[in-house]
Amino acid sequence: MRVDLDAKIPNNVGLADDRKLQRALEAWQPNFIEWWKDMGPEGFQMDQIYLRTAVAVDSKGWAHFEHVKMPDYRWGIFLTPSDEDKLISFGDNMGKPVWDQVPGDWRTALRRIIVTQGDTEPASVEQQRMLGQCAPSLYDLRNLFQVNVEEGRHLWAMVYLLHKYFGRDGREEAEDLLVRRSGNVDSPRILGAFNEPIKDWLSFFCFTFFTDRDGKYQLASLAESGFDPLARSCRFMLTEEAHHMFVGETGVSRVLQRTVQLMKESPGEDVTTRGGIPLDIIQKYVNRWFSVSMDLFGGEDSSNAASYFAAGLKGRFNETHPGKYDDHLALDQVYDSTRPTSDGGIENVEVPMRRAMNLVLRDEYKVDCQKGVDRWNKLIKRAGVDFKIVLPSERFHRSQGLWANQPWDPEGNWVEQEAYERKLSEWIATEEDEAYVASLMKPVYEVGKIAGWIAPPRTGINNNTFDFEYVKFEDDPYARL
Ligand SMILES: [Fe+2]
Ligand SMILES: [Fe+2]
Repeated sequence: MRVDLDAKIPNNVGLADDRKLQRALEAWQPNFIEWWKDMGPEGFQMDQIYLRTAVAVDSKGWAHFEHVKMPDYRWGIFLTPSDEDKLISFGDNMGKPVWDQVPGDWRTALRRIIVTQGDTEPASVEQQRMLGQCAPSLYDLRNLFQVNVEEGRHLWAMVYLLHKYFGRDGREEAEDLLVRRSGNVDSPRILGAFNEPIKDWLSFFCFTFFTDRDGKYQLASLAESGFDPLARSCRFMLTEEAHHMFVGETGVSRVLQRTVQLMKESPGEDVTTRGGIPLDIIQKYVNRWFSVSMDLFGGEDSSNAASYFAAGLKGRFNETHPGKYDDHLALDQVYDSTRPTSDGGIENVEVPMRRAMNLVLRDEYKVDCQKGVDRWNKLIKRAGVDFKIVLPSERFHRSQGLWANQPWDPEGNWVEQEAYERKLSEWIATEEDEAYVASLMKPVYEVGKIAGWIAPPRTGINNNTFDFEYVKFEDDPYARL
């Protein structure tokens, strides 16, 4: 299906042929724009941002970059092309044709899955809305806005599914996605991590590294879904998600690079005197964002996960990747895991494989996180600095699942509650740490310049150099602060 870019809502789903759906979505569109203006990036709506817009769903469709004002971004509905003879590839329905309509028995479950995914998209835009005011460079400012507009498009992807396949309930859910607010006491976003404040750029980089990566794993498992429109939506979203994680990984890298550079220039001196972010503060941020992101995977032993897999709604990561799994039924296997005992101990358990699907996904996620951390550590080592970023234990600082609200230290050892609370300031950034990081967050809006706490990127966006004018301001941005 070709992409209709001139339509009011750009799409490759033949929206013009479905007048009722088109009208419903066109009625939702102004509410979305209103939400964007209220809750999207604060300021900068009149500036020209060098953004990538999808103009086609093949790989070439990604090469389109231009300066646009964010409210004029072409938010649209894109699905990867359908494959006529596609079959469900796992669970009890394996081998049957994929569904083009919602299977009746799974209507409520699918709606909940889509709403939960959809809710994270506007949530992260809300969390990041003040960051433009302290961007370290135009390159970073542009990357922030690219992430933001794409999260907006992900919301469109989920709203399309709700409108098209879930009738009146779906339309109501789509409205509610614009009503909940990140961090709002009365009407918060659905998942914990998406109500956490993101006050500084180190948090933003950790969020895009750890929390967007949870998104990658959720989308990948939904991209295996037997409900084909969901699978095709998520497949396309994954291509955008990759850039978000790139922003996170290279962002933290550049902070580390600057810190170790300052350490080498003034050995023995506290790096804060030179305006760098100390390595132990970076570690504390990693501890926080890794643990809140681990909470997003759901229960370690879950009957919901088992029935979603059985039904063919949600598969494993790369379920159909050749050589990845040879058993797509997962009926007779167990997954080795651990759980807490009542006296602060840990015991081994065997979880029936289908019930362990959240854990299977989460463990894949952890391995993926570790790869990025290894690259960070290589950079630190190359600089001759003796320090290693470490992912904390799955037990540390959890709010969901088996280990929630228990005093486990980052190494995974049980400590007395009182000792835990005393030592928490060594593990999670204190108000003082955050105040220091906040003190560095001064905007740099000149072309080719960068703040002192972060290194410039090695290359720019779309083969441009770092000193490209990624944002063309409408007026003096400093005068707005
Ligand atoms: Fe997203
Ligand atoms: Fe994302």
